[in-house]
This record gives sequence, C-alpha cells and structure tokens, in this order.
Amino acid sequence: AWAAASGDREVVLAGPRSFCAGVERAIEIVERALVKYGPPVYVRRQIVHNSHVVRELERRGAVFVDEVAEVPEGSVTVLAAHGVAPQVRTDAAARNLRMIDATCPLVAKVHSEVRRFVARGNTVFLIGHRDHEEVVGTQGEAPGQVVVVADPDEAGRVRVADPRRVSYVMQTTLAVEEAEQTAAVLRDRFPALNGPRSDDICYATTNRQQAVRAVARDADLVLVLGSANSSNSQRLAEVAAAEGAQAYLVDDASTVDLRWLRGVRRIGVTAGASAPPQLVDDLVRCLSGLGRVAVTETRVADEDIRFTLPREVS
Ligand code: F3S
Repeated sequence: AWAAASGDREVVLAGPRSFCAGVERAIEIVERALVKYGPPVYVRRQIVHNSHVVRELERRGAVFVDEVAEVPEGSVTVLAAHGVAPQVRTDAAARNLRMIDATCPLVAKVHSEVRRFVARGNTVFLIGHRDHEEVVGTQGEAPGQVVVVADPDEAGRVRVADPRRVSYVMQTTLAVEEAEQTAAVLRDRFPALNGPRSDDICYATTNRQQAVRAVARDADLVLVLGSANSSNSQRLAEVAAAEGAQAYLVDDASTVDLRWLRGVRRIGVTAGASAPPQLVDDLVRCLSGLGRVAVTETRVADEDIRFTLPREVS
C-alpha cells in the first residue's frame, strides 16, 4: 500500500479551518482553571468533541465526567462548550460545585432565543440532531415545548397543538443547505412561524463549509481532520462529498488509509472547528513522506472573532 500511495502531490488547505472562537475559549477556560485552582479540574462531558484535545487536557489534570453527580462536592467543574440544560446547573449548585461555564456564547444565544419564544407561549422547533449534546442542552430549556426536527422529512410530518404559535431555532453546527431546506418546509406548513433574528448556524460552521466546498471542487480526495463525534467535522466531510470528491473524516494522520491515496494527485485538507491546527501540519508532513508536496491555501473568509472569558478565570 505504501508504494502505491507514494507520489508527488498538491495539497490545498481550506481556509478557514480548525479551531473556532468558541473552542479556543473553552480550552483556555480549562487551561486557566488548572493553573488557577490546580488539578483536578472536573469537566462535564468532552470540553469540545475532539479526542486529541481531551487527551491533552487529561494529561494536564482535567478529569472528564458524564454527569455532575460524579464530581466530589465542592470541586471546580467546567461545563463543556455545547451547553447544558438548566437542570444540570441546578444539579451542580446542589452539589456546591464551583462551576465555570464554557458554553459557547453562540450556543447560549440559541438558548436565550428558546426562552424568549417559549415565554410567548410558542412551541419551538429545534432543527438539529436529536442525540447531539448541544441539542439535548437546548431542548432542556423547555422540554415540553421544544420539538426536535431532524430533517425536511420530519418537518413535513411534525404536529403541534397550536400551529399559529410556533417558532424555530437551529443547532449551530448543521449543514447550511439542509437546515435551510428544513426551515423552508416548516415555513411552508406554518405561515405564522417565527425565526431567530439572525442565523443560528454559527459563522465558523458556515465559513468552514464554504471553504471545504471551494477546495473539494477540484480535489480528487478531501481529508477532514476531526473526531467521529464532532458534528461540524462530519458535516464538512458530507459537504465535500456532495461536491463529488472522495471525502473522509480522520482523527489524525495515523488513521489515513494509504489505499485512499492511490492515483490521487490533488488533496483538499480541512479540519473541524474542534480539531487542533497541529493535526493539519502533521498530516501534511506525513504526505511529504510519500513524495514531493506543494501546499497552497484557498481562503474564503477571514475570522477575527474572540469571546471574553468568564470572570472565574479572567
Ligand atoms: Fe461556537 Fe460555532 Fe465554535 S457555536 S463552539 S463558534 S462551532
């Protein structure tokens, strides 16, 4: 496989790629908490959906748990970037945990939209993937009044008590086009439908999808660095495949199957919003071991967003 995979290649990096502002903030919160309070710092769920990030923070003294019930009373506990249902905060307060909230401000914005719509007495359609942590958290704002709608098909079937009082919000990391189709079906069926003031799919998701689409068009193969449980990384592989490229989601260079590289001259490379930039460098270095590699970048947007840190660690 190694011999067949060798050859000179072009690598086109999609820009933007890798960490978004919400992920950078969440990681920095755990790092600062470790310095300020000392290990162990407990983190509820994966701080961001990336195995490398989680392993590195574990090495430094972070302890990842599924539920706050597993955290010793009074301990420092960080809530992950995907956000939580209010019940989790109540549970944490009941255990006297010193809670630091790493919820991405753009996820928190969707939570506040849900509260606003529910306060008006509306049923809220939440367009998103039912089992994803972000969706579970957002739905938890008003479990009886938030209805998850996964795709256009479900949008065509969903029923509500009062079709005149309906709103919708979205998970932040969806495939832009599909989510718009789902919203269009809802709008069609429910003329009174209220939406968020601005799109819930975040800038980082939108930019990364646009960038991977641009590189996928002329690539034989697209490699997306990201973990299998990362929603925005999965969507990048799907968007690339929809452009006609062979596309794979890989955790790092070591999980690239050399057979994919056979006969491939032009490789598009990107990384999900939770995947460290280092993984891209490593991948390019590995490809360089198989032949000469010319690296260029196709950049579709510049990002300069930064979020402020919570006061507990600033
Ligand atoms: Fe936030 Fe979007 Fe990143 S919601 S965590 S900026 S992918």
